[in-house]
Amino acid sequence: MKLSGGFSSDPDLRRIGIHPDFWYPVALSANLKKGRTLPVVFAGDPIVVVRTESGSVFALEDRCAHRQLPLHLGVVKGDQLQCNYHGWCYSSTGRLARIPYLADGGKMPEAARCVRSYPCREAFGLLFIFPGNPDLADKTEFPSIPEWSSPEYRTMYFERTLKCHYTFMHENLMDMNHQFLHRSLMGGIQPVMLNYRTGPNWTEAQYKFEGGKQHVGADFLVMGGKSDQSAIERDYELMTIRTNYPHQELTVLRAHSDVPAIRLWASYVPLDADQRTNRSFGILMVRRPKTPLILSLAWPVIRYFAQSVFEQDRLAVEAEQRAWDEQGEDWNAEVSPVLLELRKVLSRCGVPLDTEPSAAASNDRPPSMLRGDASRGQSSG
Ligand code: FES
Ligand SMILES: [Fe+2]
Repeated sequence: MKLSGGFSSDPDLRRIGIHPDFWYPVALSANLKKGRTLPVVFAGDPIVVVRTESGSVFALEDRCAHRQLPLHLGVVKGDQLQCNYHGWCYSSTGRLARIPYLADGGKMPEAARCVRSYPCREAFGLLFIFPGNPDLADKTEFPSIPEWSSPEYRTMYFERTLKCHYTFMHENLMDMNHQFLHRSLMGGIQPVMLNYRTGPNWTEAQYKFEGGKQHVGADFLVMGGKSDQSAIERDYELMTIRTNYPHQELTVLRAHSDVPAIRLWASYVPLDADQRTNRSFGILMVRRPKTPLILSLAWPVIRYFAQSVFEQDRLAVEAEQRAWDEQGEDWNAEVSPVLLELRKVLSRCGVPLDTEPSAAASNDRPPSMLRGDASRGQSSG
């Protein structure tokens, strides 16, 4: 029985599915060796990512067209994937290339001769797939992370499964007002929001931090070393957090510098069809100081600090999801203006997870994307 009402949003943000017509990371490149397969999942759809003997990658539906055996159990043969059961061989496009025990390939309808293939790319040490309309893959902007290839930065990866809707992750990072949660790690640091901006598919907030007695977090934030770029007037560290749908970025500029000391690129990829769990990927890039040894010594401490912060955030976002599960709807009583704007962006850019008419989102989507939405709605269960 409800004892108190919530501020339910319309539509309920946790019933908004992530839009499939974007590039999403599904695994770390390092986890897929040559000649091996890797099972991944996107919003309930099982997918196998394959690295051929020559090192290229492709992604297929993880079910054999014959008797539905997961293809990730199969064998990579040259540029093909051979099912582990009867040995049917698939090319990188998902077309059946060979049935080893039938000279003529057998008689079957054309549609049964292939499995779905997903556009697949490797970049920034991650494997990406395009789960939506494949015709849109080449026309859709691929994530840009210029610091990743710069020798000026050292890179650290994070990959975690969280039991919560991906939108909780966006809200959590954008919301610097929850530093109280991290008080054991960050002491009395207080974020002050300077401004926020929003657009059709993005929201951005800028914060400066005013220190308390402990400066553990702030010390990490200035780890990038003194910038050799022309100094600018700002005499405080500036943190910018931006959701650029569907991904998220955090940038820290030191005082008097316009060169990022820290960059974080993050993406939260739904795992189950209800999208109540996600695989979170993060690339943390820290600018190398003039004395490289400082960063080498600090690296394990930075990792420990980042992981500890992340686990505190996990406590919060997974509890939020459990509350949603128990209450059956979003009782979120958000008051932060930037979070309210972010929620609108996430709602507007996503797709309805259910067929209830009230869950209409996507008002501003181009017709081609709406067509992709419809087909997605039928196939994602
Ligand atoms: S189930 Fe894959 S070849 Fe038979
Ligand atoms: Fe946090």
